Amino acid sequence: MRTLGIETSCDETSVAVIDKGRVLSNVVSSSVELHKRYGGVVPEIASRYHVEYILEVLEEALEESGKGLESIDLVAVTNGPGLVGALLIGLSLAKSISYSMGTPIIGVNHILAHLYSSFLSRDKPRFPFIGLVVSGGHTSLFRCDDFDKQKFLGQTQDDAVGEAYDKVAKILGLGYPGGPEIEKCARRSKGKNTISFPRSYMGKDSLDFSFSGIKTAVLYYVRGKGPGARGQELNRGSVADICYAFQEAVLDVVADKACLAAQKSNLKTIVVGGGVTANSRLREKLSERAAFFGIKVYFPEFEYSLDNAAMIGLLGEKLYKKGHRSDLYLTVEPNLSVK
Ligand code: KG4
Ligand code: ZN
Repeated sequence: MRTLGIETSCDETSVAVIDKGRVLSNVVSSSVELHKRYGGVVPEIASRYHVEYILEVLEEALEESGKGLESIDLVAVTNGPGLVGALLIGLSLAKSISYSMGTPIIGVNHILAHLYSSFLSRDKPRFPFIGLVVSGGHTSLFRCDDFDKQKFLGQTQDDAVGEAYDKVAKILGLGYPGGPEIEKCARRSKGKNTISFPRSYMGKDSLDFSFSGIKTAVLYYVRGKGPGARGQELNRGSVADICYAFQEAVLDVVADKACLAAQKSNLKTIVVGGGVTANSRLREKLSERAAFFGIKVYFPEFEYSLDNAAMIGLLGEKLYKKGHRSDLYLTVEPNLSVK
């Protein structure tokens, strides 16, 4: 079975060809450079970029896979959540192909595609497991029993982890997206443990998250207010120390909650997906903490951490095999959730 994956939910235009779970091609073209000067994704710019490049990306993906459109058995497309204008472009392409070639179509939830992206690796997880999504818009925990069977356990009550990285980077005058910038700066820190930011657990037993408090703590620290604040000019060294302290606090909570979810559900596997899995410190911290409890953690390969169409094609294929179907009435759902 050969599947064409299409992803245009935010600022990456991506098309992939998947053959029975194997990636034949995965072309990603990002408009991130165009958004940098605005400090965040501008929806209209993202949409225009998709319109301009999606056919080129499709042609390249087919060429790289060595397969023609006539050999595609299924078109899998992200239909939510995401930016409405951006989603519509991928969906329009998917419907055009489905209609003109008579190929079945299936809508895929972007969050679940992130969650199952480590199934693109050679070493695949086995159900059941705890699923953790850490992306720019979502921070959620699930119990996963199959590709179409996940039970919601908890989520952030305010900012997502990636969003907190982006906001703190802005406070510190670092570029967009904030995640990679903060990770890079934190590595330069020479004053590790000289600053400590609060870790919000929402109660000892809770599987929900909250990251808006730490963002405010960083803001107060920078402005010289609040407990522990130094109120001095920011320089390369102090920014690195703040990044380090912020990252440690946020990732401690993420790692602890994921392990707590596994213990509560009596499961020995955690599977993580989403843009923040590009962070090496998250991988290190979570793997170490989980190992302490005898839990194994699976992360996607780095190339599938950020938005890509391979994960959409893969989940589309899995769902199709389980009997799920969409049709040409498929619509975009910008606020699609998993709950
Ligand atoms: O999954 P993703 O590509 O988009 C959504 O579906 O939201 O995630 C993007 C998010 C951004 O907030 C970005 O700052 C964060 O992932 N991110 C990182 C890193 N690389 C990307 N966060 C922490 N460390 C990184 N290295
Ligand atoms: Zn994403």
